[in-house]
Amino acid sequence: MINCIKARRSIREYTPEPVTDEQIQTMLEAAMAAPSASNIQPWEFIVVRDPTLRQQLAQVHPWSGMAADAPVVFVVCGRPSDSHHWVEDCSAATQNLLLAATALGLGGVWVAMYPRNQCEDHVRAILRLPETWRPLCLVPVGHPAETKAARTQYDAQRVHYDAL
Ligand SMILES: Cc1cc2nc3c(=O)[nH]c(=O)nc-3n(C[C@H](O)[C@H](O)[C@H](O)COP(=O)(O)O)c2cc1C
Repeated sequence: MINCIKARRSIREYTPEPVTDEQIQTMLEAAMAAPSASNIQPWEFIVVRDPTLRQQLAQVHPWSGMAADAPVVFVVCGRPSDSHHWVEDCSAATQNLLLAATALGLGGVWVAMYPRNQCEDHVRAILRLPETWRPLCLVPVGHPAETKAARTQYDAQRVHYDAL
């Protein structure tokens, strides 16, 4: 588990090998196992495999191009009307999804949409999402075509015990 957390890196290049339905299911189950305030689970997940839609998502901003190349893109959305904590809850779900991808030998990257209103509107239009949903991020996932070293980034200076 700890090794998987350290091995997770942002993977932005993918082989053409498909991601299976079973792998997608595993990642979604991991995402929905995340903690959420009062266990409201104010999240929705759109699984985008259609190449035309992925191409459109890739154009949402200058750092979202990976969506065109990854065989699957998860779009993590929140329902703000159901919880003030939707951002935290959907972020926890996104991290779980990324860790599950790593555990499966896949790679992915968090591509932020929130809090850029224009980007959120663009995604909402492409995927015909309800006005009440806010797309937190895209998560392109595929078989890694790049390798990155595991790391901890542990910094003792950021750790504080008891009162400062
Ligand atoms: C909130 C958030 C937004 C991010 N947005 C993008 C993005 O739009 N495009 C991208 O390529 N990477 C994005 N990333 C990935 C970061 O660049 C990456 O996590 C960071 O450089 C550390 O590298 P690592 O994930 O390999 O440890 C985002 C990460 C987070 C947490």
